[in-house]
Amino acid sequence: MKKTIVPSDAKVYYQGQYWNDLPEVQEYMCQNFTGDKNKWWTTDFQERFAPSPFQFKRALFLCDGNGWLSREFIDKKIVKQAVSFDWSADLLAEAESKKGKRTIQYFQADANTISFKAGEFDLIVNNAALHHVQYLNRLLYILSNSLQPDGLFVNFDYIGPQRNQYSFWHWRRVFAFNQKLPSKIQHEGLHYPHLPTMLATDPTEAIHSDQILETMSRYFDITEQHDTNGGLAYHLLTHNKKVFALKPSERRSLVKKILSMDQKLSVEYKVPILFSYFIAKPKKQNSVPKHTIKRYLTQENLREKIARLLMGSNTLMGFFVLVAFRLIAILRIKKIVRKFL
Ligand SMILES: C[S@@+](CC[C@H](N)C(=O)[O-])C[C@H]1O[C@@H](n2cnc3c(N)ncnc32)[C@H](O)[C@@H]1O
Repeated sequence: MKKTIVPSDAKVYYQGQYWNDLPEVQEYMCQNFTGDKNKWWTTDFQERFAPSPFQFKRALFLCDGNGWLSREFIDKKIVKQAVSFDWSADLLAEAESKKGKRTIQYFQADANTISFKAGEFDLIVNNAALHHVQYLNRLLYILSNSLQPDGLFVNFDYIGPQRNQYSFWHWRRVFAFNQKLPSKIQHEGLHYPHLPTMLATDPTEAIHSDQILETMSRYFDITEQHDTNGGLAYHLLTHNKKVFALKPSERRSLVKKILSMDQKLSVEYKVPILFSYFIAKPKKQNSVPKHTIKRYLTQENLREKIARLLMGSNTLMGFFVLVAFRLIAILRIKKIVRKFL
């Protein structure tokens, strides 16, 4: 059996204060999703693709966590029957306890090894799941076969740099903008995502996020893409205690200033797009040659073999960082041991 990367603890999910907990950010995201600051993507999806009840008969919810989204799709009568899986037994138990009489089937599975019957679903829903998948190519291939030819794949996901390893220029912009903010909103805990800590906390986080769109387009036609940016604002607002402590009247204009700069820098490609809402349809059967599919699968297996040799990193730079931190840790331990001898 293939050894895959799965989360070791679900406690890292649904924690902390994220930028999208702020009403101003919700409006900003809605505007970018749908052109209407009061319309979230799920409402947009329902209005355009499921105007009458139970348009979709059997939908799959990827890595569904505590199950809020499958419950919402059932409650809104977008889908008749939901199939939902996750790796975390704790989150599955929570989802099961909140299910009530809804027609949702939960099960535990690893997205890296899962399989489905051909044409089993007419809808697949991904909310922040694909950026946790190690064997992304394999999964997307499996999903394309599991979807009926006229089925839909709706996504909202993090598509930014792999393992949140932002470029020097990007991070310099974020840091400089933070320095210029009034002190009542300046992020005091702003720090670059530390790769060794990221791997230790959740080795699945953003594992191949930067490859989601490209890999998806091998097996699906992406018919719509609505980027919601975040390259600046996500960093300045997420886990920023000061912002969340401000009175709404004081907060509003300051947050809006950050968001308008986020929009500007994203449009000018000065910071990467971190989040996107996009819709895809499976490519026609046999349109991807068998030998091409085989090549993609082989490439992916090789990539993961190399990553295992590089201590879980997919880049040489990442590997050097991990080695350096391992050495520093060993030297520190030696120093402590010497003190006691
Ligand atoms: C960011 S959360 C999103 C959860 C849910 N989709 C939502 O929107 O609330 C990522 C989820 O992916 C799950 N996950 C991560 N790696 C997985 C894997 N290899 N197989 C199945 N689930 C996985 C986690 O347990 C977690 O519930």
